[in-house]
Amino acid sequence: MRSIIPFNDGWLYYAGDVTADALDSQFQPVTLPHTNVVLPHHNFDNLEYQFVSTYRKHFRLPEARDGRRVYVDFDGAMIACEVFLNGRKLGENEGGYLPFSFDMTDFLNENGDNLLTVRLDSTERPDIPPYGGVVDYLTFGGIYRDVNLRYVEPVHIADVFVKTKDVLTSQPKAEVDVKVLNQSDRPHSVELLVYINDGQIGADGGVKILASQEISVTVPAGGESITTVLFDRLPPVRLWTLEQPNRYGLAAELSENGMTIDDNGAFPFGFREAVFRDDGFYLNGEKVKLRGLNRHQTYPYIGAAAPARLQRKDADIIKYELGCNIVRTSHYPQSPHFLNRCDEIGLLVFEEIPGWQHIGDRDWQGISLRDVQGMIERDRNHPSIVLWGVRINESQDNEALYTATNALAHQLDPTRQTGGVRYFQNSQFLEDVFTFNDFSNGVQEPEHTPHLVTEFNGHMFPTKSWDNEERQLEHALRHARIQDKAAGMGNVCGAIGWCAFDYNTHREFGSGDRMCYHGVSDIFRLPKFAAYFYESQLDPSVRPVLRPATFWTMGDRSAGGINPLVIFSNCDEVEVFFGDERFGKFQPDRQEFPNLPHPPFQIWGLNLLWGGHKYADLRVVGYINGQPVIEQRMESYGVPRALVLEVDDVELHADGADMTRLVFKIVDKFGNRLPYTNQPVTFEIDGPAELIGENPFALMGGQAALYVKARHEAGTVTIRATTPRLVPVTVTIQIQ
Ligand code: GAL
Repeated sequence: MRSIIPFNDGWLYYAGDVTADALDSQFQPVTLPHTNVVLPHHNFDNLEYQFVSTYRKHFRLPEARDGRRVYVDFDGAMIACEVFLNGRKLGENEGGYLPFSFDMTDFLNENGDNLLTVRLDSTERPDIPPYGGVVDYLTFGGIYRDVNLRYVEPVHIADVFVKTKDVLTSQPKAEVDVKVLNQSDRPHSVELLVYINDGQIGADGGVKILASQEISVTVPAGGESITTVLFDRLPPVRLWTLEQPNRYGLAAELSENGMTIDDNGAFPFGFREAVFRDDGFYLNGEKVKLRGLNRHQTYPYIGAAAPARLQRKDADIIKYELGCNIVRTSHYPQSPHFLNRCDEIGLLVFEEIPGWQHIGDRDWQGISLRDVQGMIERDRNHPSIVLWGVRINESQDNEALYTATNALAHQLDPTRQTGGVRYFQNSQFLEDVFTFNDFSNGVQEPEHTPHLVTEFNGHMFPTKSWDNEERQLEHALRHARIQDKAAGMGNVCGAIGWCAFDYNTHREFGSGDRMCYHGVSDIFRLPKFAAYFYESQLDPSVRPVLRPATFWTMGDRSAGGINPLVIFSNCDEVEVFFGDERFGKFQPDRQEFPNLPHPPFQIWGLNLLWGGHKYADLRVVGYINGQPVIEQRMESYGVPRALVLEVDDVELHADGADMTRLVFKIVDKFGNRLPYTNQPVTFEIDGPAELIGENPFALMGGQAALYVKARHEAGTVTIRATTPRLVPVTVTIQIQ
């Protein structure tokens, strides 16, 4: 039988290239996911992560082998590595964004000690995508995703791909391709059992089997077989939708002579139909206007080495805090944890291969084709993924390469369309969907359909969370105007803005501090005004949103005053008060924004003049169906009132890798961040966890974050933060 055993723990790490005789005492113990260097959140050099490092893991087999093959499965290591077991080379991998595996069986010491060594090259290798030219993001280094041990019988299931069909009819179908591998030296005849469960735990603690099929399969010695199993008599199914992302389970088992020899464990999938047409994107037959943001997988301090919890949190932020229905994984395949969460919550995904403008030589292109294959084979069971990006982001046309990537994508996954992101319209259209980066500060009339805007804004209007109110407001309104325009164009499937979060970059880009301030949220995933615009597009049934896009100061805008007062909200009406004085009730601005589900409110004529006497606290009340449902206040006093400290999670696992975000802000008395507070905040931690990040932190934008990382012990962790002139604050986390 198969066993999957987490292999993240107990590694040794050395930040250099050492020979096999180097002493373990030179190494430091680490747990994966791991970054090869912890950095400040900006103002560092990308050379700092570019080196060769060495990882070792001493282990004894955690289970007896009993004739099984033993693999080590890496989810991702940046950017190339050689892997050795007990001094013998298992193999190499090139490319940092996709999984790779080695069969260790032949070199294992079954009853004794083993040493696995990874020589990891994290330099920006020009022979490996995305490198060779300049790139506007950083790749960082380390074995930055999970590693598992996998025991399988010599005859085992190597891959399962489920394709759903006719899902909108009363006779939905599922066609399942199962690849069985035979690593033995004789042919095997096995029984393959495939079943679909309803994905819901019933009262008896089990799941209900909807359908199952058994088929005999013969696999040649040292070969493989692919069997297609068709389920064409399924009962009606619950569709995977944005609101109710229903998932079913698909399991495959092998038996031989009545004994089960493999069971790959049920994995989730969904019944849904996603198609881009000339007149828009359709999910389950209904037109859905796509409104999204691009996401880079990098984080402050830890590069790309974010554990599952942070990956999942990003999906939640994009769906629930930024109100998006789609995310583009710019510009590479991202963490399985992130994608799993997109499946769970109903967030659509456009996933693409690694690369940025540059196309390399034949070998480089060979890696790119392998990336297409690796991405699709890894991810084609995710219901959230609706489009494959099979072109190097913003590269020039290349007929041979892109004919090949498209053909490969269609062969590996006949159920999904392809896109390929470019920034010019007179481009050879070899994909199914014309995915276009439109930096015109509008939405260009499509020359090709189906047409999806895959980037806009970005470097055209970089905006920091401590920029003045006018700039932050204009940044937000640019997003609002373009989303409005895209929403109104029948031949545009939607628009995915650049981008969700500020990100670290090379010196050829960004603001000189190795940061592109292109996010609607900052690098800590904390909102700027533009984030409020996205949030305000949430359906009010999710929650009412009411966000005045102002710092409520009399003299921060040119010439003073606050005219117009812009409020991002999904309410029907807002009522505005200055202190006790009622200014009036207002409707959303449907004139400037006729197509948005929830247009911003633009309130003119406040008559709050420079030095004007009316300046008092702001109070805004939001109404839905005539009822007040939400209220926001902003203080006119202008001095910091409190230091606020919050954690996203109050419990962590004692696995040595789990992390949560520790947010701190300096706020007015109603909890609004004060963007120009830049004093140092100092942290002390007590208990079995570490703080990751700058300490003290010189605040910028009135808000920032560190991470709290669990060790291997359970216990209570208390974090205390202090800053001059404000009351110290603490938070507590339980490590379980
Ligand atoms: C695009 C590119 C993105 C990012 C963006 C900044 O050209 O595809 O990766 O650099 O510009 O606006």
